[in-house]
Amino acid sequence: MRSEDRSNGVSMPVTPLTTLESGMGGWSRRGGFAGRAVTRRGHAIVYIYGARPNFVKMAPVLRELRRRFPALRHVGVHTGQHYDREMSDVFLSELGVPEPDHLLGVGSDTHGAQTARALERIERVLLSETPDLVIVPGDVNSTLAGALAAAKLGIPVAHLESGLRSFDRTMPEELNRLLVDQLAEWCFTHSPEAEENLLREGVGRERIFLVGNTMIDTLVRMRPRIAGSRVHEQLGLPADGYLLVTLHRPALVDGPLLHGALRELNALSEAYPVVFPMHPRTRARAGGFTASSPRLHLVDPVGYLDFLALESRAAGVITDSGGVQEETTYLGVPCFTLRENTERPVTVTHGTNRLLGLRVAALREVPALLETMPAPPEPPEGWDGHAAERVADVLAVGLGRGALRPAALARA
Ligand code: UD1
Ligand code: UDP
Repeated sequence: MRSEDRSNGVSMPVTPLTTLESGMGGWSRRGGFAGRAVTRRGHAIVYIYGARPNFVKMAPVLRELRRRFPALRHVGVHTGQHYDREMSDVFLSELGVPEPDHLLGVGSDTHGAQTARALERIERVLLSETPDLVIVPGDVNSTLAGALAAAKLGIPVAHLESGLRSFDRTMPEELNRLLVDQLAEWCFTHSPEAEENLLREGVGRERIFLVGNTMIDTLVRMRPRIAGSRVHEQLGLPADGYLLVTLHRPALVDGPLLHGALRELNALSEAYPVVFPMHPRTRARAGGFTASSPRLHLVDPVGYLDFLALESRAAGVITDSGGVQEETTYLGVPCFTLRENTERPVTVTHGTNRLLGLRVAALREVPALLETMPAPPEPPEGWDGHAAERVADVLAVGLGRGALRPAALARA
């Protein structure tokens, strides 16, 4: 990592400006960067991530683009939206993500304050790094801040996992998705309905690329190491026949439903042992609840390898996580989603996901539902471990033109 002045938590790179041999045609963006005179530092891609699911989605793309385009600078920016070891560092090390070049230390706050802090700090990085392209994954506040900072500086944005819609604007993620897709030049999608959603919102077809699921790329690559996890022994769980739980959405955990869900899980553990690695948001709101059943294991969040080991061998998974709905679809593990809607309907139509609604009493139905779950279908098209390669193929077209810009912008 570069040495940085973190006196105010803002990343200030001190390396001298350099021009790298990139082998690409020259490109100057007059009037870009909000009209500021800048010295370009050689062609670069900036990757913005900061929350647990971001690492899983971005890792294969970063890896593939570094491999395909070694002459470019590949600059990792970690906003610090998530910062506990088990929410952040463990993912970077297990997934082999190089140490980020910039740590922005944004931390937790209200939506406005967190997003604003990320926006301000990302902008400073972009002004100093002068990238040709910014890549953002998913739908968290760091994703919106990254896309907005880049777009306002005239830097093209690529959005991984574009076009997902729950049609529920009370979800903070839905607002982030809608806005980021309006800002992105490249909308990389993982299922056909994402394309339909984008077209309906006026996104031009030439900006949409169905590439598949980069989160599944990570799962496929890590499978041999997942098999070596000893988490079952460590947590005192049987090797299979248990239920895995993750819940962290505000609609469920920020109100009275959480305690109701915990009571239901306590009762459910008579039928199946239950393991619940608790997101820090959930843990903070579960205060006062004590499991009376020794078969309900409330534990801290676990790293990627251990979590996937738990997910792969569970009898069923109870969740409100977006990523977990996708991973269980790929793994063919029955998934029960405690939400009224999902932005990932493909996990219901082509996977093993079943929406229970926001009704914690529905957890009582899980044992009976498990008896009747149909055999797992094939994973959706493009959920095959090669999505990042397809992302790189698309971006290589821009590189071949001498600029990482789509044709429309190159003519501007
Ligand atoms: C965020 C995303 C959500 C995503 C989830 C993945 C937004 C709007 N939400 O929700 O879409 O599904 O990440 O996990 O971006 N905290 C810690 N340690 C940490 C991180 C958070 O203790 O390392 C606690 C803090 O009390 C914080 C709370 O968790 O206030 C919520 O964190 P935040 O990043 O704001 O939202 P998430 O609920 O994690
Ligand atoms: N995950 C993990 N440990 C946990 C819980 C989740 O490694 O204790 C992984 C999970 O396998 C998936 C990602 O984190 O790869 C999903 O993140 P999360 O559920 O926090 O966010 P969402 O997908 O809902 O945005």
